[in-house]
Amino acid sequence: MNIIFDQEQQVFHLYNNKISYIMKLFHDGYLSHLYYGSKLDQINSNVCVYFTEREGAPQPDGLQDARLFSLDTLLQEYPSYGCGDFRIPAIEARLANGTSALDFRYKSHQIIKGKEALDNLPSSHVDNDKALTLAIRMQEVAGELELTLYYTIIEDESLILRHSVIKNIGNAPVRLGQLASFCLDFYDCDFERIHLHGAHANERNIQRSKLNVGIDVISSARGASSHQHNPFVALVRPDCTEHNGEVYAASLVWSGNFSAQVEVSSFENTRLVMGINSFDFEYKLDVNESFTSPEAVLVYSNQGLNDMSNTFHHFVREHILPKKWAKTLRPVLVNSWEAAYFNFTQESIVRFAKDAIKLGAELIVLDDGWFGHRDDDTTSLGDWDILNSKKLPNGIKGLCDEIHSLGAKFGLWVEPEMISPDSNLFRNHPDWALAVPNHKRSQQRNQYVLDLSRKDVRDYIVDVICKVLASADIDYVKWDMNRNLTEIGSVLLDSDRQGEVATRYVLGVYDIMHRITSRFPNILFESCAGGGRRFDLGLLCYMPQVWTSDNTDAVCRQAIQYGTSLVYPPITMGSHVSAVPNHQVGRSTPMLTRFICAMSGNFGYEMDLGKLGEAEQAEVKEHIALYKQLRETIQLGKFIRLISPFENTKNETAWSFISLDTNTVVLMYFKNTSKPAPNLRRVYLKGLDASAKYKVYKHLATKQVAYNDFLKARNLEGEILSGSELMYAGLTMDRIDADYSSVLVVLHKQA
Ligand code: DGJ
Repeated sequence: MNIIFDQEQQVFHLYNNKISYIMKLFHDGYLSHLYYGSKLDQINSNVCVYFTEREGAPQPDGLQDARLFSLDTLLQEYPSYGCGDFRIPAIEARLANGTSALDFRYKSHQIIKGKEALDNLPSSHVDNDKALTLAIRMQEVAGELELTLYYTIIEDESLILRHSVIKNIGNAPVRLGQLASFCLDFYDCDFERIHLHGAHANERNIQRSKLNVGIDVISSARGASSHQHNPFVALVRPDCTEHNGEVYAASLVWSGNFSAQVEVSSFENTRLVMGINSFDFEYKLDVNESFTSPEAVLVYSNQGLNDMSNTFHHFVREHILPKKWAKTLRPVLVNSWEAAYFNFTQESIVRFAKDAIKLGAELIVLDDGWFGHRDDDTTSLGDWDILNSKKLPNGIKGLCDEIHSLGAKFGLWVEPEMISPDSNLFRNHPDWALAVPNHKRSQQRNQYVLDLSRKDVRDYIVDVICKVLASADIDYVKWDMNRNLTEIGSVLLDSDRQGEVATRYVLGVYDIMHRITSRFPNILFESCAGGGRRFDLGLLCYMPQVWTSDNTDAVCRQAIQYGTSLVYPPITMGSHVSAVPNHQVGRSTPMLTRFICAMSGNFGYEMDLGKLGEAEQAEVKEHIALYKQLRETIQLGKFIRLISPFENTKNETAWSFISLDTNTVVLMYFKNTSKPAPNLRRVYLKGLDASAKYKVYKHLATKQVAYNDFLKARNLEGEILSGSELMYAGLTMDRIDADYSSVLVVLHKQA
């Protein structure tokens, strides 16, 4: 790993054993992009950049001689508008005189050991001897703005971290309209774009589309990274598959409004610009004030999407998740929400817990409804100071102690960012909710959003939530957030700073999360936002797992978890078995299928296990015991996608896990709709040791419907198979003529 600056060629080269990232300074300090991809020994910048005259492309004054050099055709590192480049900019600002043409030139650079944390923002952490950072200082020619571009390269990681900082070095305020986390220019446009789109209960569907000339945008303006679009995008070569081909992917360490814009120019160059959404964003930079963009993680792979995901997964575990939790195995959790909703008593929760603990549950979570007079979702958010609700006569502490005495951990739900119109907090502080003068506030789920841009509101929330968490020996917290932001205004900010509120809200969330999670380092926090509204690298810096979706149906979850796995490792995904018919889609799937799907992440139940019959309880007990044997492989191992629910028949899904020591392999296969004359699916495993022998330790498959009992169930347990056979000849899945079937095969490598 190194960063070198070749003075003669004016070339920066960042590299490790996998990748190179190369830039060059032209003329009076234009910072141009030369290359990003597989590691290069060197680049000859005289040959690699080919200038030619382009009609319609302006030249900077003094460089117009041969009409070759134009910002409109140059691959750039951090382009701006107004001085010759007509493509999408990375930065927009209005200088003190009201003009917006910007021209940034190189001033100096610095190579720094390690990587510093970002101001007020979550960011990745890395040991000082494992990373190098290049900081390139640029100055706008009018002398009002200084821009610093940061690039970090980490040993052995096929990725570059980027962010940017702008500072007002002039004598009057400047209005910032955009500060992207990065821009990445490409010579060609032979790409397809992949992104993750969705809705509540239908998060992170994989969409792949061809790039066209023009601008394609995915974005959020909802105040959160959103159910609709995840802050992730990948540009892939058309021949790229799960296991082959080139991928350029990016993900933001940010939980608010964002955009990822891709432009293919008329000269068929491609530009990717990503960062805080410039739509409805404006930030006033006072003299000497700085603004820092969120960090972006730029992953490169020439071995397809699965390799991209493995790079993200490793990076998230090593450099994003709080260190204490990154490799701590997660308990089997049982949550009260779908079991009871708001309808419980202390006694019913203790009974619920006893039944779950008997079957092996390790953590009992009391979800929404325990505080104030919250018997439905119309009331009491904000009234966290009322610890003794009528449902819990002995308070949180009484219940927590009782669950502990039963031998399990105890967890609690909170929603600190919100306020109910029907709450003492709102009656006492109506100005604490976001609002715009002369407009009524919109409601979503009968609630408003607290104005977390305000320090007094943040201080109150930190104080009151800390009191709740200190009131008992709580082991786990589910931090929920159930609406989007509307009427985004703050009474404490001047009119020329109202464009900052959505951003300041997210910075406020980070502030309270930082203060609360650092005060309680032994509590395992799970973030949730109506399921997966905020599944992003920003929140993962504070809370090491996320409630993936409110949808717990095993069929829908295959797609949701498959899509989520593009960026986020299984140890970050909460996935639970729920009752049938499923509460979100009304489908009834076999218990085994629900188990196999849910065990592919942080496993738990979202149902009252005491309401199951004896046979099903016995099944659950076996499932929990099996998960405990396999959880290290699932939570910390390598995840490999094998059959996509978004492709081919859209009726099958398969994925596998390989333990870190490579000795345990877990294969999961799902077939959703039964078909006449069914094919016998062979699954070709990946990543095994070709010459090793593997013994089938566990083989489970869902049952036939009764009248098909001529199909004898088979059992592969004890069979020995070679790695090469499993990978190249494949393993045939069971024939099950029934809907929602699934197969689980656990293999142990033989010594
Ligand atoms: C939305 C969450 O996603 C659910 O799991 C549950 O906690 C409810 N909120 C409670 O109101």
